[in-house]
Amino acid sequence: MNTTYYVINDPADVRLRQVGTLLKDGGVVAIPTETVYGLAANALDSAAVEKIFAAKGRPADNPLIVHIHDRAQWAPLVAEIPPAAAALADAFWPGPLTIILKKSALVPDVTSGGLDTVAVRMPSHPIARAILQACDVPLAAPSANTSGKPSPTDGAAVREDMDGKIDAIVDSGPCSVGVESTVVSLAGDVPRLLRPGGVTPEMLESVLGSIDIDDAVFHRLAAGKTAASPGMKYKHYAPSAQVILLKGDFAAYRAFLAAHKEPGTVALCFDGEETALPVPAVSYGAATDSAAQGQRLFEALRELDKQGAKTVYARFPSQDGFGLAVFNRLIRAAAFRVIEL
Ligand code: TXA
Ligand code: MG
Repeated sequence: MNTTYYVINDPADVRLRQVGTLLKDGGVVAIPTETVYGLAANALDSAAVEKIFAAKGRPADNPLIVHIHDRAQWAPLVAEIPPAAAALADAFWPGPLTIILKKSALVPDVTSGGLDTVAVRMPSHPIARAILQACDVPLAAPSANTSGKPSPTDGAAVREDMDGKIDAIVDSGPCSVGVESTVVSLAGDVPRLLRPGGVTPEMLESVLGSIDIDDAVFHRLAAGKTAASPGMKYKHYAPSAQVILLKGDFAAYRAFLAAHKEPGTVALCFDGEETALPVPAVSYGAATDSAAQGQRLFEALRELDKQGAKTVYARFPSQDGFGLAVFNRLIRAAAFRVIEL
């Protein structure tokens, strides 16, 4: 398939109308959002949504997030909008928050992965919003990576994974948040955080009171246990290299690397540490800046593969606030391997 490649930074660019028509007519287009790039198709068109699964190589039981630009598009997708959901949307939409509710009959099974719930989000990225307006249908969009790979946070990463597999790519430069949206379920008795992201647990609690944080945010899913969020059970965000998180201070980290500097070993460190290390290093933001780490992490994981890394020893990030999202992605990239120094 010939993939049309657009570079668009102006939401008034007339080519966004072509993109809208393509999506309305059942095409698949990679689009920018403030979190990561998404692989979009008409959420209400089963045949179009199936093409997303094919392009990603995504398991069919892993449901997609439905994107809207207007609150009026939400009600038809869900059984009802409880007051807590409306309050979350008031506080955090448009933005990096996905809300799961019981779905309506309008949402095809393929979009919801066969579940009776649907995840909905209103992105804030101006180009995403312009595309949603232009096509005027809700767009199902998982991250635009090949299944299991780190999510793409710039146009080049999308091209690496999707060129030749989809109708078009809209490149609007790097994503500002850099990790996927916060996913919260309001479909059960108690609000439950399924995936941490740009809207932190503290921000959710400021609106909802206390919330549950799903075990899968911190730990590997226990054998035989059903994932609240099907995406949690798959290996995720992983480069080809084996990643191991090292917990300890910088001196201990450096000493560990000095004792383990085999060929193919690369450090995934904080900014400014590179030159003090005995092995090649890629950095993923300043030690005290979770926002910068989030923005940089997935690109850094892709960079490790380009360097041919075999074993990657990563610095352990803070888990406070937005740091929880960074930690969650990194620990999954590491398949939960941690060494305490
Ligand atoms: O920031 C984001 O959310 C990006 C951009 C493109 O919007 N999208 C994204 O989609 O990260 P995806 O498909 O890569 O991740 C969606 C996650 C998966 O782990 C999926 O299992 C979960 O949300 N999910 C979706 N619908 C769900 C539902 N009804 N119940 C439970 N989990 C759900
Ligand atoms: Mg994804």
